[in-house]
Amino acid sequence: MKNILIVYYSRMGHTARMVRTIADELEALGNTVTVMPVSEALREGVDWSKHDFVLCGFPVVYGTYHPNVYEFVRNNCTELDRKPNAMFNVTVVARTPFKATVEGNRYMQKFLERSPWRPRDLKCFAGKIDYPHLNLFDKKCIQLIMKITNGPTDPSMCIDFTDWEDVKQYAKHISELAHQA
Ligand SMILES: Cc1cc2nc3c(=O)[nH]c(=O)nc-3n(C[C@H](O)[C@H](O)[C@H](O)COP(=O)(O)O)c2cc1C
Repeated sequence: MKNILIVYYSRMGHTARMVRTIADELEALGNTVTVMPVSEALREGVDWSKHDFVLCGFPVVYGTYHPNVYEFVRNNCTELDRKPNAMFNVTVVARTPFKATVEGNRYMQKFLERSPWRPRDLKCFAGKIDYPHLNLFDKKCIQLIMKITNGPTDPSMCIDFTDWEDVKQYAKHISELAHQA
């Protein structure tokens, strides 16, 4: 049994749902999981002595990660490096296979360039476009991006590109990594 910390950011709730799925799977495999939004980790701090493994999950919104993400990795780089760790990102570009690879996902490459912390294990997941729940500005911007990249533009649609079986398999992978440590 390992104590696993998951730190995440979520603007629209999709990454939060992925984190809950991963946490449930990890617990079903006998691990203890603490889930923490990155804002809480920054505000309250993390008791690093309690955790054997750290997983971070960060989505991309308008080409970048939330500033809290970089603040968290900057402030906690040493502690993150001391623990076995992994990181996944969530992007809509990862709906195409090449952009779901670490090399092909420009936002993962961007993170690796900007972050002083180099995660030991990386994964790119495709996220969700929920047009009905976007405000008018976001809706128009996403429609434009989708038009340029041959994606769906129907404003009445909610398109979940996430492979949820893969999310569950990923949780198994994380559990194995934690037990190897
Ligand atoms: C306003 C907005 C901007 C986005 N910008 C990007 C982007 O620049 N590149 C990309 O690949 N995905 C982009 N996405 C897709 C998100 O990464 C995807 O919707 C993800 O599931 C959001 O996770 P969250 O619900 O946890 O915030 C954007 C989504 C929204 C709503």
